Amino acid sequence: MGLETVELFAGVGGFRIGLERAGHEVIWSNQWEPSIQAQHASECYVAHFGEENHTNVDIKQIDESSVPDHDLLVGGFPCQDYSVATTGAEGIKGEKGALWWDIERIAREKRPNYLLLENVNRLLRSSTDQRGRDFGVLLHCLHDLGYTVEWRVINAADYGYATKRRRVFIFAAQANTEWGQWMTSKVEKPDYLTQRGFFVDEFPVEDVQTQLPIAHPPNTTLEGDPKETSDEFEFDFEEAGAMVDGGIWTREVTPVYQGESPPRRTGNGWCS
Ligand SMILES: C[S@@+](CC[C@H](N)C(=O)[O-])C[C@H]1O[C@@H](n2cnc3c(N)ncnc32)[C@H](O)[C@@H]1O
Repeated sequence: MGLETVELFAGVGGFRIGLERAGHEVIWSNQWEPSIQAQHASECYVAHFGEENHTNVDIKQIDESSVPDHDLLVGGFPCQDYSVATTGAEGIKGEKGALWWDIERIAREKRPNYLLLENVNRLLRSSTDQRGRDFGVLLHCLHDLGYTVEWRVINAADYGYATKRRRVFIFAAQANTEWGQWMTSKVEKPDYLTQRGFFVDEFPVEDVQTQLPIAHPPNTTLEGDPKETSDEFEFDFEEAGAMVDGGIWTREVTPVYQGESPPRRTGNGWCS
């Protein structure tokens, strides 16, 4: 059955096309281009999908309680500095302006069962002077909200598309959902990321390393709270991984694709 979905950072609606093809229903969306008056992306979105339940205002101006209840929260959000300013009685407060914190506060208020997010693969490595900090903060926030998480860097060109785009896709499921329980029970299996995970059917991969243990402990663990992760955490995240109950498993994988090759771009046009 389709999921009631809220789409943030909707752009022209690329996510929505895929979601509707998969049978899901977008019940509310938001898109706003900062610093300019012309709102072409939002206009394009409305032209395709109608203006009902579409909002064209800065997400920072949206009160989280006004977002309708939903099952799935999606968004391709800009990659910025995610460092944490305070935690504790005041709750977590992130770097002002960073749009991750708007996803976080909506997820905190609405607790959708699932999130599906997209970002540039650089997110796994940033910030430049504390490698892996930003993704660590994101995982820690989701952990605090009761989610299990799986991620994968996917290059569309590796699966037959004529575009070279490496993006990290992040799937989060509340630990008590079927997906959350599946991840929790299987994440220690060495073939979880290549055979059993969320992305494997549509985007098959195999391990780069051939000798794998029968079960394996997490590669690292989140300690303390998101502020501690923001201040101290450094880690090399690989292209595939999962976070369950604060444990992080991650491995290098290589795409497996037997379909047609995408056409290659040449100096004067496309060729196959
Ligand atoms: C990476 S793009 C997402 C593209 C989208 N998935 C699509 O298919 O077109 C991020 C989008 O977030 C929008 N955006 C940036 N800052 C925003 C803000 N403060 N509030 C709402 N949207 C914002 C940008 O205008 C941009 O369209």
